[in-house]
Amino acid sequence: MTVTSAGPATPAAGTTAPASFYNDKVVNQFAIATVFWGIVGMAVGVFVAAQLYWPALNFDTAWLSYGRLRPLHTNGVIFAFGGSVLFATSLYVVQRTCHVRLISDRLASFVFWGWQAAMVGAVITLPLGLTQGKEYAELEWPLDILIAVVWVAYGWLFFGTIAKRAVKHIYVANWFYGAYVIAVGLLHIVNNLAIPAGLWKSYPVYSGAVDAMAQWWYGHNAVAFLLTVGYLAMMYYFVPKQAQRPIYSYRLSIVHFWALISIYMWAGPHHLHYTALPDWAQSLGMVFSVILLVPSWGGAMNGILTLSGVWHKLRTDPILKFLIVAISFYMIATFEGPLLSIKTVNSLSHYTDWTIGHVHAGTLGWVAMISIGSLYSLYPRLFGLPGMYSTKLVDVHFWLHTLGVVFYIVSMWIAGITQGLMWRATNADGTLTYSFVESLVATYPYYLGRLFGGVLIVAGMCLMAWHMWKTRQMARDPAPIPVMSPHGAEARA
Ligand code: HEM
Ligand code: HEM
Repeated sequence: MTVTSAGPATPAAGTTAPASFYNDKVVNQFAIATVFWGIVGMAVGVFVAAQLYWPALNFDTAWLSYGRLRPLHTNGVIFAFGGSVLFATSLYVVQRTCHVRLISDRLASFVFWGWQAAMVGAVITLPLGLTQGKEYAELEWPLDILIAVVWVAYGWLFFGTIAKRAVKHIYVANWFYGAYVIAVGLLHIVNNLAIPAGLWKSYPVYSGAVDAMAQWWYGHNAVAFLLTVGYLAMMYYFVPKQAQRPIYSYRLSIVHFWALISIYMWAGPHHLHYTALPDWAQSLGMVFSVILLVPSWGGAMNGILTLSGVWHKLRTDPILKFLIVAISFYMIATFEGPLLSIKTVNSLSHYTDWTIGHVHAGTLGWVAMISIGSLYSLYPRLFGLPGMYSTKLVDVHFWLHTLGVVFYIVSMWIAGITQGLMWRATNADGTLTYSFVESLVATYPYYLGRLFGGVLIVAGMCLMAWHMWKTRQMARDPAPIPVMSPHGAEARA
């Protein structure tokens, strides 16, 4: 296994052709976009969390209503924040591990501006109430087409760069990125097949239970391939890079890859327990979800054990803390997920805040923390700097974020289980023990706990934006980073 170095180097004399340098412009653009959309998307999350505590915060204004802002939050954090960091890191990693520049600067620029245009479209249309009404696939058909075109261009850029790599070997991170690129394109196109009925209105080609199944095949695999597989790619590159150690087991990483890819696609029906979906399909989804625990934890251990022999680095390197704590939250979410997919457990958890706690253990704990850690590792390298402006500030961000996540998910676990138990409690004569309003009142204190956690997290993101700006200022006139020769790696025949 070869972990390539992305370390700074002085441009060699005479190597001035653009192909001799990495295209870090697009990486930098997406890195900045990640932090920008992170602040916007999470601030909207804080606002909707506040609305759940103080409903009057919608000011009786349609576009400030919870129903419109909630999808703005999910699209903002998943596609704008989560998407941008996947673009930034994949385009960085593919160049470093293939020892070549991206195949086209114009295509890279198109991918960046095309994606930003789609995200701005989401920010305008969702508050206006223009929606397909499918969770995580709310955007109407003109924006869906734009996303599909940008995605194909991205696939061309990514796989084209792999095709002209200067080494024979394809590093495992690129396998994970490649699977995410293919799967997300497939999911997006299949689930959004619709007949337009006006510029901002369409009807899905599926109906009834088939529509529900297609939607949750999409919904679950969006979680699997966008929010998991893409971030595992980050784990496989940035954990070894930051720890200065090879990945614990390369063989395990290959088993991890094929096991996840073959099992994930079947688990979607766990979102439709006790619905009109045939019972056998629900049970199939449950069984595959339980099996998923094994490759998920196997892969996570591969990341964590990479630190074998250098655990002491966690004491001094807050970037490693971000990465390793992210993997720990991944283990929490992938333990909890199989548990929630068991039908008897789901009958307690479904419709409650337990699901919301699970979601944010995965998204804020795993997705956001591995992203933030990877960006802190990558960003100074774009300008040939040895590190961020201040290690102390990274540490402060680590604690703000970690405490925020803990406040968020613990509040939602308690609120969710309280709701589930109160809803199912019955008296001896069979009547319900509690009214719905009583369960709502019981959960109010926890909504305040979540809000507090959210404020800490957004404060951390603002600190990160300022810190990146300070770091950028340290490199006054940065030279482009030359493509590393594949020294020591097997040359392509
Ligand atoms: C400051 C940080 C955040 C806060 C305060 C926050 C808050 C919220 C709130 C209040 C909801 C609605 C819950 C409900 O309907 O009962 C929600 C839903 C959601 N959020 Fe966040 N969020 C944050 C960060 C994130 C991030 C970073 C992601 C993804 C990368 C994310 C993904 C989601 C998803 C997928 C849902 C829908 C969950 C479901 O329907 O089960 N959130 N969030
Ligand atoms: C082994 C892995 C996992 C399994 C088997 C799993 C399973 C589940 C189950 C059973 C639900 C509840 C469905 C319901 O009652 O409505 C759920 C919801 C959810 N999970 Fe997971 N989960 C896993 C990992 C993750 C991870 C790592 C993330 C995030 C990065 C995540 C994000 C979500 C989201 C966003 C939802 C809410 C979907 C919605 O209703 O809007 N899951 N998951």
